[in-house]
Amino acid sequence: MDAARKILRRLELLGRISDAPAGITRTFASPAMRRANHLVAGWMREAGLQTRIDAVGNLIGHYPGARPNAKLLLLGSHLDTVRNAGKFDGPLGVVLAIACVEHWHRRKVHFPFAIEILGFADEEGVRYQTTYLGSKAVAGGFDPRDLKRKDADGITMAVAIKNFGGEPARLKSARFDHRKLLGYVEAHIEQGPVLEAKNLSVAIVTGIAGQSRARITFSGRAGHAGTVPMKLRQDALCAAAEFVLQVEALARRTKGLVATVGEICAKPGASNVIPGEVSLTLDVRHARDGLRRSAHRRLTQAARTIARQRKVKLCLENVHEAAAVDCSPTLSARLASAARRCQKKVLQLPSGAGHDAAVMAGITPVAMLFIRCKGGISHHPDESVKVQDVQVAFNVLNDFLFQFAKTHEHV
Ligand code: HGY
Ligand code: MN
Ligand code: MN
Repeated sequence: MDAARKILRRLELLGRISDAPAGITRTFASPAMRRANHLVAGWMREAGLQTRIDAVGNLIGHYPGARPNAKLLLLGSHLDTVRNAGKFDGPLGVVLAIACVEHWHRRKVHFPFAIEILGFADEEGVRYQTTYLGSKAVAGGFDPRDLKRKDADGITMAVAIKNFGGEPARLKSARFDHRKLLGYVEAHIEQGPVLEAKNLSVAIVTGIAGQSRARITFSGRAGHAGTVPMKLRQDALCAAAEFVLQVEALARRTKGLVATVGEICAKPGASNVIPGEVSLTLDVRHARDGLRRSAHRRLTQAARTIARQRKVKLCLENVHEAAAVDCSPTLSARLASAARRCQKKVLQLPSGAGHDAAVMAGITPVAMLFIRCKGGISHHPDESVKVQDVQVAFNVLNDFLFQFAKTHEHV
C-alpha cells in the first residue's frame, strides 16, 4: 500500500496548487499550471525521468529504454482542471505513471522500450473552450486559428502560451513521430458510478464518447423590470431558459444521449433590469457520432426557432467537436490481462467523459484504465478515491509494463 499512499500524498500536495483563492482551478498556461509543472517535474526527476516542457506547455518525462533509440510507450493524463475541481481528474493518471516508473527505476530496470509520461497542458478547455490543446499539439490536430482565441480577460492563446514560456510559432515541434510509438496508456478515475455499484477497483475502457461543444448567445432588449409590459419584452434570459429545458428534454428522451448547458451568463445582471443578452455553452455527447451530430443539429434548430418566436437575435458558434474513439483492442487486451491478475473480475466500460486518449488514438493505439471514485463524483471538490483502488491500479499498470516488455524484447 506504500506506493498508493505516496501517490495520494503527492496528489494532496498538487491539489493545493490553484489559480483561485479557494478550491482547485488550474487552467491552460496559467501561473498555477507553471507551479504544477514544476512540482510534478521534480517527482519525475526523482523517478529517474529526464523532464522537458514542450512548445505548448505540456510537461514530459523521459525514462530511457535498455537500448538507445528504443521505441516509446506513452503514459500520462492531464494536469489542468475544471473550476473548483477535484484532486484526481487528470493528475491521478500522471502521478500514478510516475510511481510505476519510480518502482522500476529503484530496481535499475530499463525496458526494451523507452517510456514518456505526458502531463498534458489542457484537456478541460476551460480557458479557451477548445479542449485537448496539449494532446492535439502532440498528436496533431491543433488548429493554429485557435491561437487568436481570447480568454475572459481578452488574452489571446498565442500570448498566453508565450507568457507561459511556450512557443506558439513552433507548436509543430511538439508533434510526436507516430512511427516511434508503441501506444498510449492512460489511467483515470471513472467519473461515474459503475465500478462502485459492481464493487470493483478498476475497469478497462472500451471507447470514448464523441462530443460537440457550442457557445450560444441570445440578444434581446434590456429594459426596466418595473415599467416594460410583459408582452413588449424581448427577454434574452427567458429565451435561454426555454432553450435549456429543450436541451434537457431531448437528452432525456434519446437513449445514450447526454446534453448539458454548463455555463450561462445574463447581462447586464441586475435584479431590476430585463436581461438583454445571455450567453451559454452547449455540450452534447453520445457514443455514436451520427446520433450526436443529429441531436446537435436539432438543438441548434430549436435555438433558432426560439429566437424567432421571441424576437431575439441568435449567435451560435461551434467551438469544439471530437469524434467517438475506440480503444485499441490489442493494447486493451494486454491491460485487461494485467487487470485480471490483480482483480479477479475485469469489467469493460465505455467513457462518457472525454480524455486525451481520444486525441492520442489519432497517432498510436490507446488503452485506458478506469479507477473507482466515490459516488462517481467528479469535476467537484468531493472527488475521492480509495487507497486500495489506487494500489490495484498501480499493480495493474506495473504488471502491464512488465508483460509488455516481455513481448517487446525485439523493439
Ligand atoms: O469534459 C470532459 O469530458 C472531460 O472531463 N474533459
Ligand atoms: Mn475532466
Ligand atoms: Mn480528465
